[in-house]
Amino acid sequence: MKELTIRKADDMHVHLRQNEMLRNVLGYTALQCGRALIMPNTTPPILTVQDLVNYRETIVSELGDRTDFTPLMTFKVVPATSAAIVQDMKKAGATAGKLYPDGVTTNSEGGVTDFEALYPAYEAMEKEGIVLCLHGEMPGAFSLDRESAFLDTLRTIASDFPKLKIVLEHATTADAIACVLSLPHNVAATLTVHHLFITLDDVIGDKLNPHVFCKPIAKRPEDRDALVKAALSGNPKFFLGSDSAPHLISNKENACGAAGVYTAPVMLPALCELFAKHDKLNLLELFTSVYGAKFYGLPLNESSITLIEESWTVPEEFQSVKPFLAGSKLSWRVHPDAGKSKTKAAASAKVL
Ligand code: NCD
Ligand code: ZN
Repeated sequence: MKELTIRKADDMHVHLRQNEMLRNVLGYTALQCGRALIMPNTTPPILTVQDLVNYRETIVSELGDRTDFTPLMTFKVVPATSAAIVQDMKKAGATAGKLYPDGVTTNSEGGVTDFEALYPAYEAMEKEGIVLCLHGEMPGAFSLDRESAFLDTLRTIASDFPKLKIVLEHATTADAIACVLSLPHNVAATLTVHHLFITLDDVIGDKLNPHVFCKPIAKRPEDRDALVKAALSGNPKFFLGSDSAPHLISNKENACGAAGVYTAPVMLPALCELFAKHDKLNLLELFTSVYGAKFYGLPLNESSITLIEESWTVPEEFQSVKPFLAGSKLSWRVHPDAGKSKTKAAASAKVL
């Protein structure tokens, strides 16, 4: 049986939610990752230092005595975010600020429409070393063009703030990959697991599949190919941000279905599958566990995780949430011993 041991991953974009959902999903991320960048689009959102501190405490208390996972905290960058707020967030230990353009995704109402009005906030982030994470979609543009329509805004912010670290989150188009490649080293992009697998046809090409409906929406085959090429390229500008975004099945199979794909339970096995298929398993660790840390200026995770080549079928459901690739066969899985720790978060995650 083939085994692959890599440094634990850094998932540089994950939605852990709150309350029961947090309890149900945290274990999968904590099992596979040493750290993860926790998105702030909770209800209510993470806007103040107190919100950030409370959310971190909630996550840490949910982790119990598990000390090998660190949540990296973020706050929402909104029209009211001042330089003073950014400075206070830095003192409270924030890693990044996440900017959601108005109305483009789950819980982004009241988001940003005037990107230039936030220049004082970007300047403070540049000074404090806080990363600017962009949900790169232009409000009001046609849905398939929203990401491409945002790229001029990315170019402008990047050239006006050359020392600000900027991440274009969940890139979905060949245009976005080319744009990030053309910009200097202060600009990188995260790639999700699901966008490396699916196109718009998986969402609406046959019967509607609400479980792979997400923002930005998956695009054309040539876009997916550009993302795969970027992930497999060994270029440090591209690293893992799963965008695992769990929603209850009842909120997905719904006349007003929520956007988001729950990838956490299959994150590393699915990536192993993809990298193995392209004979690039040797580059997996760079993508999952090295380039993100380097961009964020973090030391590399010291603990490791082992995956084994063994066939299994992804369950249809975990606690009323349907995971990505539900019902499909995968040929890699997390080593059963990886979850043997007695800690609360690990115990809550069945090893897959
Ligand atoms: C995310 C969510 O559900 O919070 N949804 C999604 O479709 N990706 C928000 C986001 O990252 O856009
Ligand atoms: Zn997200």
